[in-house]
Amino acid sequence: MSSGISPTGEKPRILIVGAAGQVGLELQRTFAGCGPIVAVDRESVDLAVPDQIRDLVRSANPQIILNAAAYTAVDHAESEPDLAMAINAHAPRILAEEALRLDALLVHYSTDYVFDGSKPEPWTEDDAPNPLNVYGATKLAGEQAIRNTGGNYLIFRTSWVYGPHGNNFLFTMLRLAGQRAQLSIVDDQFGSPTTSIELADATRAIVCGVLDGQFGTPQQWAGLYHMTCSQSTTWCGLAQAIFARAGKLLDGKAPLVTPIATADYPTPARRPRNSVLSNARLQDRFGVSLAPWQTALDAVFQALIPGAVTTSPASAQTQNTVPLQ
Ligand SMILES: NC(=O)c1ccc[n+]([C@@H]2O[C@H](COP(=O)([O-])OP(=O)(O)OC[C@H]3O[C@@H](n4cnc5c(N)ncnc54)[C@H](OP(=O)(O)O)[C@@H]3O)[C@@H](O)[C@H]2O)c1
Repeated sequence: MSSGISPTGEKPRILIVGAAGQVGLELQRTFAGCGPIVAVDRESVDLAVPDQIRDLVRSANPQIILNAAAYTAVDHAESEPDLAMAINAHAPRILAEEALRLDALLVHYSTDYVFDGSKPEPWTEDDAPNPLNVYGATKLAGEQAIRNTGGNYLIFRTSWVYGPHGNNFLFTMLRLAGQRAQLSIVDDQFGSPTTSIELADATRAIVCGVLDGQFGTPQQWAGLYHMTCSQSTTWCGLAQAIFARAGKLLDGKAPLVTPIATADYPTPARRPRNSVLSNARLQDRFGVSLAPWQTALDAVFQALIPGAVTTSPASAQTQNTVPLQ
């Protein structure tokens, strides 16, 4: 096989797109040493401009493309559907076309928001998507564009992403805690908070396995997989877990968290009630599973302030759930 990703013993050339985002930063960390990396942010390439994407890939000539870029502003997407579609669907299609041309592996991330949330159980890859909002629809179009292009791809659908860098729910909570004594947080949307650290590390394990030939041929491993931290909670549950761990950061002044219903917190974009994803296929195919979300949250606090974690993970498993993903 003459694949650009067949095991050769040589270190692969890696292109990381969206390198300044939450996941992009962690991918840079975890793939360091795996091979020469070209990491690009919006300054280097505007994904809304197709020719810039093609020029980028052709000059980097990668064997692995890690696409962590996306239009992720879920509420803003409602009023900018064309831009969201350009970044979330057209740009991944061009990356897939370029990957096919180079026989490279394209790794792409998608979202739990492709589902409408109506299923009470965790969603599998075989469940029919039915996005409730523009962001979800554009991400689904991105998945379909990659699949239709063919080639060697891995799409990892994930959820409720946060980590030690970037704009995310964790930092929103910590900022609001300094401003308010009480926070009302949505408690009837269920999902699996997933850290950028866990996502990047799992991605590296799988990509390395693919390069080593552990998972067989592309026909055996290429495709769509759910990839989230295990167990689930609500936004309110996540906020409570954050404040239970943030004692040192907040000088002991955690706000009172009041659970509210989605109906009491109207947002421009509708969100699924249940977007918990089953990771069984990821586990079965690659033997990879991500940490429980509580343990992963501990690791983010450790990354922020070593020694900051003051609770056991079990103390934060409340099934309870402000600003959302
Ligand atoms: N965040 C979540 O809760 C969540 C949930 C499920 C799935 N996902 C998926 O996970 C992946 C990683 O998300 P993330 O949380 O790391 O997102 P993020 O922190 O918002 O990073 C996305 C990156 O894409 C870049 N980008 C946006 N438009 C661009 C353009 N026109 N040209 C070049 N770069 C552009 C952004 O650059 P700027 O910083 O300059 O805007 C940003 O650095 C995405 O595929 C996302 O859809 C995320």
